[in-house]
Amino acid sequence: MNAPLIDPFARPISYLRVSVTDRCDFRCVYCMSEHMTFLPKKELLSLEELDRLSTAFIGLGVEKLRITGGEPLVRRGIMTYFNGMARHLETGALRELTLTTNGSQLRRFAADLAACGVRRVNVSLDTLDDRKFAEITRWGRLAQVLDGIDAAQEAGLRVKINTVALKGFNEDELFTLVDWCAARGMDLTFIEVMPMGDLGNENRLDQYWPLKDLRARLAERFSLTELAERTGGPARYVRINETGQKIGFITPLTHNFCESCNRVRLTCTGELYMCLGQEDMADLRAPLRASTDDAPLIAAIRAAIARKPRGHDFDYSRQTVTGQMPRHMSHTGG
Ligand code: GTP
Ligand code: 5AD
Ligand code: SF4
Repeated sequence: MNAPLIDPFARPISYLRVSVTDRCDFRCVYCMSEHMTFLPKKELLSLEELDRLSTAFIGLGVEKLRITGGEPLVRRGIMTYFNGMARHLETGALRELTLTTNGSQLRRFAADLAACGVRRVNVSLDTLDDRKFAEITRWGRLAQVLDGIDAAQEAGLRVKINTVALKGFNEDELFTLVDWCAARGMDLTFIEVMPMGDLGNENRLDQYWPLKDLRARLAERFSLTELAERTGGPARYVRINETGQKIGFITPLTHNFCESCNRVRLTCTGELYMCLGQEDMADLRAPLRASTDDAPLIAAIRAAIARKPRGHDFDYSRQTVTGQMPRHMSHTGG
């Protein structure tokens, strides 16, 4: 019953990303459309159900839990869930409890997050320019996010910045972002833009800035040392010798990292996505609600893991977008 989760490609599944809401106070252009229809509240798993599901995964060997959204900190009562998960840190079953956030609510939550055992947070930030920030997030205010980052650091949380590399948008800020993170003791990870959501008139190919090009630009100014260390996520890291800081690269397009994939994604309605870049999912809400005994749920989890695909099919290499996902990124939390 408690045997670990191993997928058909012999990959142990030890990392669960839990999207606790599809809502967000921003509307980042590559993540959501401006006029999103959100799920009715009754569709959502309750906080108790999220706890029970997450606990079942931990019982099956999940050691890393990342809370995502939408924006996780806009889910009402979310600290109840975090406080619940803290018990698994105390027993040692969970090695890491963390979140990916847009930073807008960190002023309010940073101290509570630190108190329940969160040690680091990943904050999404694509630009340090007020006007460009307003453009890319549609609804966001940069000052609020910067204040949230301050609050996180004041609370003793380590902050990693996630920046989607966007041609013609933040190319000119590469060194500004690197220097800013270095000055504040924060790591920085760049992400290649993925073809998620209804692209409409937007074309991800026009925005695509391959990270090998970004890295080459970094190497013109700094000497870089390749690092072997991993955080359990898909990023590969280098150290900038001049500043000592770590820079991560998440390269779904130029270097597929699926062969070492260790994660699955749970949505706020109890869908389990076995791959970010594939449509197949398993409904865990039905077995969860069908019985107070976890056996049917665990059987459903195992059946889902048994069909985890080899990887995504995103591809821009033929100068056209293929492998695109109609689902918005906010549905599964990245
Ligand atoms: P660390 O624990 O700090 O290594 O974080 P992480 O990279 O695991 O999580 P984070 O939420 O910071 O991930 C950043 C982004 O990387 C996600 O939002 C996705 O856009 C992308 N990403 C993460 N996992 C995958 C994956 O399995 N496949 C693909 N294609 N992209 C992923
Ligand atoms: N491609 C790459 N990254 C994306 N994110 C959201 N949408 C995309 C996309 N289409 C990133 C956000 C955030 C994380 C949750 O996912 O910037 O860091
Ligand atoms: Fe919200 Fe994050 Fe999506 Fe932006 S990327 S709209 S902050 S969920």
